[in-house]
Amino acid sequence: MVLAGGLGTRLLPMTRVTNKHLLPVYDRPMIFYPLQQLAAAGIDDILVVTGGDHAGDFLKLLRNGQDFGLEHLRYAYQEGEGGIAAALALAEHFAAGEPIVVILGDNIFQDSLGDAVAQFRANPRGAMVLLKSVSDPERFGVASVDGDRVVRIVEKPDQPETDLAVTGCYMYDARVFDVIRGLSPSGRDELEITDVNNQYIEWEELRHVELKGWWTDAGTVASLRRAAELVAVDPDNPVLAGRGGLALGGGD
Ligand code: G1P
Repeated sequence: MVLAGGLGTRLLPMTRVTNKHLLPVYDRPMIFYPLQQLAAAGIDDILVVTGGDHAGDFLKLLRNGQDFGLEHLRYAYQEGEGGIAAALALAEHFAAGEPIVVILGDNIFQDSLGDAVAQFRANPRGAMVLLKSVSDPERFGVASVDGDRVVRIVEKPDQPETDLAVTGCYMYDARVFDVIRGLSPSGRDELEITDVNNQYIEWEELRHVELKGWWTDAGTVASLRRAAELVAVDPDNPVLAGRGGLALGGGD
């Protein structure tokens, strides 16, 4: 599933009349990148969760997923601002007891996530997070690792213990929906995905992969610009270019 809700307040005024995930990153709307990732990882049953005033625009833009080689796409509407875990809760019916891959609509990964997804598919119990060493960990969930285990994740710590950001791609078994039902809202009044991940740590069932290629979000002015620059200098990258380089229409 791809999460594309939120108000995008960090990108005002660009998000006054549209959803953040519809803004361009280099040559295509932001949400294309996570959809290309899932499609490249062999996931062909995808739910897009959005909300707010511009939800209908996602249907117009993405239609039935033909730009991604998909036969169909599903959509869900998130009322209000509940956080990532609240958006994930909307996928319970969609997941129907099967494991689920979650990707945030403003996250762009240089490399294919196919290997990590295959690893989780081979043993789909517990959860998996993807970590990336970054220069500004205080903007993210930050993982502390002991040997090959994540022992703690802290959401946007003032003083990060490590530089390992928890990126916006997560994989869960079906117990995730019970975990979410047990959560309370955080200080920013959201159901935090970090609290979900910490429950799996407590169960000793959180696995992780550290990414080699670059990763960026695109939810602030600075990261949106950075995302476009990173994509622009990597024109031959198949997961960034999409299926067969994506003929996106328009000859001139
Ligand atoms: C969210 C998560 C955070 C994660 C980040 C990745 O932050 O809460 O743990 O590191 O996405 O993009 P948010 O974008 O909601 O501030």
